Amino acid sequence: MSLSSSPPDDKLSVRLLAALRADRGKPVSGRAIGEMLDISRAAVWKRVEALRKSGYLIESIPRRGYLLQDEPDTPTASAIARGLDAETRRHGLFSQEKIHFFSSVDSSNDKAAAMARSTAPDGTVVVADHQSMGRGRLGRVWDSPGGVNLYFSLILKPEIEPRYASQLTLLTGLALAEAIGVTGVAGVQIKWPNDILLTGRKVAGILTEMAVEENRVQHVIVGVGVNVNSSVADLAPELATIAVTIADQLKKKVKRSALMADFLNRFGVWYRRYLDSGFAAIRPVWLEMSGILGQRVRINLAKESFTGRAVDLDADGFLLVKRDKDGTQARVLAGDVLLLG
Ligand code: BTN
Repeated sequence: MSLSSSPPDDKLSVRLLAALRADRGKPVSGRAIGEMLDISRAAVWKRVEALRKSGYLIESIPRRGYLLQDEPDTPTASAIARGLDAETRRHGLFSQEKIHFFSSVDSSNDKAAAMARSTAPDGTVVVADHQSMGRGRLGRVWDSPGGVNLYFSLILKPEIEPRYASQLTLLTGLALAEAIGVTGVAGVQIKWPNDILLTGRKVAGILTEMAVEENRVQHVIVGVGVNVNSSVADLAPELATIAVTIADQLKKKVKRSALMADFLNRFGVWYRRYLDSGFAAIRPVWLEMSGILGQRVRINLAKESFTGRAVDLDADGFLLVKRDKDGTQARVLAGDVLLLG
């Protein structure tokens, strides 16, 4: 997709679109819009032209006005904010003002880290339509074509000890699995610690990074990439058998802004429970959605690799694996897990 024009998020365009959306299916006259926005009819026409260039399908109906037929699916701040529910708005962790949309960034995690080091508050969201250097775990590349998927990073500033930051990955996975499930796909599963699978193939990944000073968390950046509307056929051949997209499974496209808003609403609920009651509030639901207990797994660590059976997720979120070799129990904090069934 061309990224030459970023969607208009200026106040006048946003108000113009609101006027067109208000009476969906009915044209609104240029004069009425001009009066609402306190601009001339010529200025209204100019704005409409700019919106058309950004992908809005706005029909001009002679003597009746402008009719909004279709909107581009770009996860701008205003598009996402339209899907934030009353509870999210009341608590204020996420809001339109705290969502920063970019047509293209190197990596939303890097952009978010730079913002977190300045004044960005807890709940700031960096969302990008495209990433030129999207990163996955263990130095892997996260393929980030424009116009199709979701790439975003949350800036969190919780008062927790650094050793608990990985719990935020699990919490994010839970909210993400729920939100992805609501699109109607089958077989959503969380794979410890940071993947979401659809019928066994990866649909989303989480990259959590943090800044620590004197054993205190300065900020945590939770980066999320979701394969939404791209096609696995467009991916590198080695990914074709291990990755999946929501659209490929549903055989139709999903509105990215709505999916992202749904995720933020759910994340906010789990995050508040977590801050109030700790990981104990997350663990049982996470376990249910992961289905990992009892499964045979291969754990790949930096210096060691072993197979065993996942027997529990302990109170801190560590995976407990009974080694095949000698029956001893390993407490795994971070690593690559291969589900062997
Ligand atoms: C993984 O599965 O290895 C984690 C993938 C995380 C990708 C997301 S996309 C948004 C954010 N920015 C990045 O550069 N990476 C994360």
